[in-house]
Amino acid sequence: MLSISAEEFLCWKKKQLSKGGDPQSFAFLLDCTAGISTSDINLFNINSEGKLYLKKNLDYLESIWEDHLLNSSPIQYLCGITFWRNLKLKVTEKVLIPRPETELIIDIVFKIFGRKSQKLFFAELGTGSGAISIALALAYPLWDGIASDIDQDALEIAIKNYINSSKQSNLKFYCGHWWTPFESFKGKLDLAISNPPYIPNDTYEKLPKEVKKFEPKIALIGGEDGLKHIREIIQKAPLFLKEKGWLILENHFDQGEKVKQILIKNQFKSVEIINDLSGVGRFTIGRYK
Ligand SMILES: C[S@@+](CC[C@H](N)C(=O)[O-])C[C@H]1O[C@@H](n2cnc3c(N)ncnc32)[C@H](O)[C@@H]1O
Repeated sequence: MLSISAEEFLCWKKKQLSKGGDPQSFAFLLDCTAGISTSDINLFNINSEGKLYLKKNLDYLESIWEDHLLNSSPIQYLCGITFWRNLKLKVTEKVLIPRPETELIIDIVFKIFGRKSQKLFFAELGTGSGAISIALALAYPLWDGIASDIDQDALEIAIKNYINSSKQSNLKFYCGHWWTPFESFKGKLDLAISNPPYIPNDTYEKLPKEVKKFEPKIALIGGEDGLKHIREIIQKAPLFLKEKGWLILENHFDQGEKVKQILIKNQFKSVEIINDLSGVGRFTIGRYK
């Protein structure tokens, strides 16, 4: 730990923020890398006479901040972690940074199954950092889960995140294309979830450069209309779900109605589009027969 006067620290902080960037990203950097929370800083803003203890020196923090400003590198990748629901997850450029809107998937599960549900079997397709599956495995210790991703590097991060977040053993990871690694679980799933790549090809080209330059393309692009992966996941889902098993999908802001029609065409019932907190039809759910 390095000790520094609060006055010197506050002056340094002001200088860094004058270079640009948003205060929230800077607060994230201080919290994750230096161990200084926003509430610590608020206290020192009231009384700047004390001392602060930093896990990293100011030069190191400044170099990360400048990298973020110069190259638009997401601060989560530079710090190597992100926060998602109540999880602290390792992230590298091999995995998508899990988005706050995706957190609602867990609330949708709570709404369907209640909080203290009996033993169930769930699958997640395209787990990335593992966020969704790990949150479910922790919330439902009686459930068993399986999670897949096509990218072995992403899976290794998900596995580390699971080990770091839990002492449980109710989640297993598989590498492969969507349902392929789950051949032996046909007809056994009560619930399947996916936040697949759904950005249409031409929309991808218009994404902000910090996304295009750093986040994995394979996690984002969903073909010409963005629905290539969603279609495949829905079409094969009936082979893997039990009767009355649920499928929960995240989709792009304007795809809800189309995803709903694909679900209906594939014999799903109770099909519903669910809004995210900005009122966008971000999730589409259905129950197989
Ligand atoms: C939008 S990201 C979602 C990651 C994570 N579930 C989340 O919500 O943050 C999509 C994930 O699907 C994976 N993926 C892409 N194509 C795949 C395929 N054909 N089979 C399995 N996983 C795939 C990507 O590697 C990526 O991790």
